[in-house]
Amino acid sequence: MSKITRRKALYLGSATLVAIVAGKTLTQPPTLKHFGSKKGLIYGSAGAYKRLSKDKEFARRFVAECAMLTPENDLKWRHIHPQPNQYDFSKGDWLLKLAQRHRLKMRGHTLVWHSGLPNWVKETVNSQNAEAILIDHIQTVAGHYRGKIHSWDVVNEAILVEDEHPLGLRKSRWFKWLGEDYIELAFRVAAEADPKAMLFYNDYGLDYNIAYDRKRQEAVLKLLERLKAKGVPIHGLGLQAHLSGAETRFNAEKLREFLADVASLDLKIMVTELDVSDQGLPYDYLERDQRVADVYEMYLSAVLDEPNVIGVVTWGLSDRYTWLSNFRPRKDHEPVRVLPLDRELTPKLAWESMVKVFEGLS
Ligand code: XIL
Repeated sequence: MSKITRRKALYLGSATLVAIVAGKTLTQPPTLKHFGSKKGLIYGSAGAYKRLSKDKEFARRFVAECAMLTPENDLKWRHIHPQPNQYDFSKGDWLLKLAQRHRLKMRGHTLVWHSGLPNWVKETVNSQNAEAILIDHIQTVAGHYRGKIHSWDVVNEAILVEDEHPLGLRKSRWFKWLGEDYIELAFRVAAEADPKAMLFYNDYGLDYNIAYDRKRQEAVLKLLERLKAKGVPIHGLGLQAHLSGAETRFNAEKLREFLADVASLDLKIMVTELDVSDQGLPYDYLERDQRVADVYEMYLSAVLDEPNVIGVVTWGLSDRYTWLSNFRPRKDHEPVRVLPLDRELTPKLAWESMVKVFEGLS
C-alpha cells in the first residue's frame, strides 16, 4: 500500500469510500481541497488569526485541507477599523501571507454588516456623515487588498423580515442612515476599489422549507433582482448555511428551485459559512456524528446540483475552534461536534459525507 493510500484508508471509515480508493494510485493526499477540486469546486474554511497564528498543528492541517481561507473576524470593522482614523491590517495581512504561501485563495468578509462594529461607529456616525465614512472604509479596506481577494462579502445580512420593511430589508444602522441605497453604494465602491474581486451578497436563513426561510429567500431574490436591474456590479450570492442537525424540514427540490432563480440572474453561488449545529441531538457520538454528517450530505448534494455553485466554505475546520461552542452550546454542556474534523483533527463522518458528495457518490 502506498503511503497516501494507507493514509486515505485510515481517514475513511466508510466501506464505500475505502472500496473506491482501493487499488487507485492517488497523486494527491485525501483532503477536502483535493476532492473539491476534482469536482471543479473550491473548498475552504473560515480561520481566525488568533487560532492560526498560535496553533501550529491546526494551521498545518488547515493549509493542507483547504484551498480557500475566509478570515473569520479579522477583516470586520471592529478589528480592521478600530478608530475613526485608524486602520489595522496586521492580522488580515498575516492571514493573506499564510494563504499566499500555501496557495489558498482568500475571501474578504465583510465590508458592510450591522454587527461587528466598533463603538466609535455607533457613537459618531449619523445620516450626514455615514455615506463618506462608508465609502472611505470600503475604498481603504478593499483597496488595501486590491487584486488579492477571490471574493468579497460586500454586504452581509441586509434582510430581516421581522423588521417589517415592505421589501424585507433589515432596519440596521446603515439602512437608517442611508436607506436601501447603502447596498448599491457599497457594491459600486467595492468594484472600483478592487475590480478583480468577485462581489457577493451574503446571508443566512435561506436553507429550509419553513415559512421563515421562504420569506427570506423571496426577499433576497427581490433584492438581487433590483441590484441586477440597476446594473450594480454584483457577481454572487453567499449562502451562509448555518444548519441545524435537529431541523428536519428540508426540501432539496425547493432549495434547488431557489438556487436556479438566483443563477438565472447570472449570479454565481457559494456556500460561505457551512456548519451543522448539534444542539438538541443525542450525546452519543455515533448517533450525533451520523446525523450531523447526514445533514452535510443532504444539503450539499442538493446545492451542488446547481451548476452556478463554485465553492463550499465551512465556518471552521475542526471542532477545536467553532463559534457554535458559544452561539449554540449543548444543553448537556458537552463539547459540540459540528465541523468536518474533530478536536484532535481527525476526520469525522461529516468529512466523509463531504467527500462523498464531492465524488458524486451520494
Ligand atoms: C461570527 C464569528 O464566528 C464569531 O467568532 C464572532 O464572535 C461573531 O461572528 N454570520 C457571519 C459571520 O457572517 O461573520 C459570523 O461570525 C457568524 C454569522
